[in-house]
Amino acid sequence: MKKLFLVANWKSNKTSLEAKKWLTQVQRSKIKDPANSAGRQRSKEKEVIICPPFTLLSEMKALIEKKKLPIKLGAQNISPFGAGAYTGEIHAEQIKEFADYVIIGHSERRNNFGETDDMLSKKVKQAMAVGLTPIFCIQNETTPVPGGVNLAAYEPPTAIGTGNPDTPENAERVARAVKEKYPYIDYILYGGSVTQDNIRGFVEMENINGVLVGGVSLDALKFTALIKNA
Ligand code: PGA
Repeated sequence: MKKLFLVANWKSNKTSLEAKKWLTQVQRSKIKDPANSAGRQRSKEKEVIICPPFTLLSEMKALIEKKKLPIKLGAQNISPFGAGAYTGEIHAEQIKEFADYVIIGHSERRNNFGETDDMLSKKVKQAMAVGLTPIFCIQNETTPVPGGVNLAAYEPPTAIGTGNPDTPENAERVARAVKEKYPYIDYILYGGSVTQDNIRGFVEMENINGVLVGGVSLDALKFTALIKNA
């Protein structure tokens, strides 16, 4: 069965009230829990992961458990250090209390916050030491991927937030090249202007195991349509 990761990157968006409304709308649209939908033959196993801002992780974890939603949580960033005197940073163990995943190396972090390859490999080590799974973002097939990364996301900067996605065929070509170069990567996602209407083309590619979605994930109805269309 093909495994698909459907990852929402909320970026610096949503208040607590807005997040609550989003979860209520998702609950109404009844996305299926793969663990409880046995019987019918399935060709894909979908894992839905929401990456909200740090401020919402605790509350969202409680709500997801209360509403019994088939959703996992991820953070959008992590400190390259452990606990200690690092004002403004959130370290791996603090994230692990609430989430299973963490996005590392998003283009917006590389470009706006000066994150370097060296810093990103420190972040990956911190995440893996506590059992958080990094979703490591690469801009193209030449971006270095730190050892041990199992899940990567190919996001060409020209496609992020522009409404101008890469083609599924080129995404597949990059995914294949990256997997050949880094045999420890099992799964490659595509990200950049993914919508409920174009997702199918990407997830049908042999080496694309899901998507990283920004803008469209902020709208609960569009995002649940995207999950269904995958
Ligand atoms: P987008 O963002 O879906 O709004 O293009 C994707 C991302 O930056 O992860």
